[in-house]
Amino acid sequence: MDKFVITGCNKLYGSVDISGAKNSAVAILPAALMVSGICRIENVPDIQDVRVIFELIKHFGAKIAKIDAHTYDIDSTNLTYDAAPYELACKLRASYYFIGALLGRFNKAEVPMPGGCNFGVRPIDQHIKGFKLLGADVDLNHGVISAHADSLKGGNVFLDMVSVGATINIMISATRAEGITVIENAAKEPHVVDVANFLNSMGANIRGAGTDVIKIKGVQELHSGTYSIIPDQIEAGTFMIAASCVGGDVVIKNIIPRHLEPITAKLLETGTEVEEFDDSIRVRRLSTLTSTNVKTLVYPGFPTDLQPLATTLLTIAEGNSKVTESVWENRFQYIDELRRMGADINVEGKTANIKGVEQLMGTHVEATDLRAGAALVIAGLMAKGVTEVHNIIYIDRGYESIESKFNGLGANIVRMTDN
Ligand code: EPU
Repeated sequence: MDKFVITGCNKLYGSVDISGAKNSAVAILPAALMVSGICRIENVPDIQDVRVIFELIKHFGAKIAKIDAHTYDIDSTNLTYDAAPYELACKLRASYYFIGALLGRFNKAEVPMPGGCNFGVRPIDQHIKGFKLLGADVDLNHGVISAHADSLKGGNVFLDMVSVGATINIMISATRAEGITVIENAAKEPHVVDVANFLNSMGANIRGAGTDVIKIKGVQELHSGTYSIIPDQIEAGTFMIAASCVGGDVVIKNIIPRHLEPITAKLLETGTEVEEFDDSIRVRRLSTLTSTNVKTLVYPGFPTDLQPLATTLLTIAEGNSKVTESVWENRFQYIDELRRMGADINVEGKTANIKGVEQLMGTHVEATDLRAGAALVIAGLMAKGVTEVHNIIYIDRGYESIESKFNGLGANIVRMTDN
């Protein structure tokens, strides 16, 4: 396993290119299994979760050809039905998208309960409710979800809570269901719209993605096509927050500024300067940070995936700040690590109360999940002295070459084998 050794306090200057969205890619690639033909997918991020998805896709007989560093042809013309293998499926949360995709292609699916980052109970009852309303029988036996339908039939699904995964998964399977499916209380995240746009470009008929009511008219077949994945909102937000945390002047390129509005708004409240262009954003921090409060919400609110990074930023903001998590049950494990670096944070239920300190201090810390890992990298960049971030396997799951991207801005991060 590797670790990052970070020498802190180098301000960040220059520009950084943002990769394709992880949470789109991990849904679009399984959905490509429903296409009897070749999907050319561009802007695929080079991250560990995508490598695992590729292994899973190959398991079902799809052929993958690499066209360039971020473009792949996926040929799903000849597939063989099989259960998803446990060793691969347990490695990531997004393996649940194989239930929707296999149901859409074969009217059946067997997929082990998904793995992924651990921040509390992560049920998938809403996905299952949706598949059942489309006419599938769904059982959970010995940790494996089995779904089967003679034929999928469109239906009305009202989600009990806004779930990105359930919205996308139901949308994927409903693409091939007979008749019309309506998903109400749907998630509106940019990657929900991205998956809908991908499916539509392959011949699906999905309307309303990006609003809370999505209508899907089932089609008999999906056809070959080319699609480019949107830029990663969370990676872009990570670099925006990093520029504010560490100070300097950074242009974040290949982004959609509208997706970043909740982050821009919070950075402005802290006294960070943010300037938006067509497909880039400039973040400068020239003075001391001011405290503020952050509450995570579904899109277009402040994304939960940037919550650990917001907390890290506010550790050095003058005064008292509050960060409230309202999407996940338990997403504060990293706070003990920030405390080890000198942060003054006290957690009360779902709120972290932060008293700004002048500076964080380098030490050994452990990534507890993907975004917590990114937060600790940024904490290391802010801290005096050397920080070692262990367990970076989590970070590699979702960030493409994070250390090269930061080093390109003047940071000092070395990847080393962790003994
Ligand atoms: N929920 C249920 N039942 C369900 C589904 C969700 O109770 O059937 C609850 C969850 O427990 C949670 C809330 O609803 O409290 C929202 O969960 P959601 O389904 O939206 O999350 P997800 O689809 O499993 C995706 C991202 C996460 C991100 C969340 C929220 C992927 C692969 N993962 O998860 O991303 O935090 O949406 O935006 O798309 C990350 O990238 O680091 C990450 C964890």
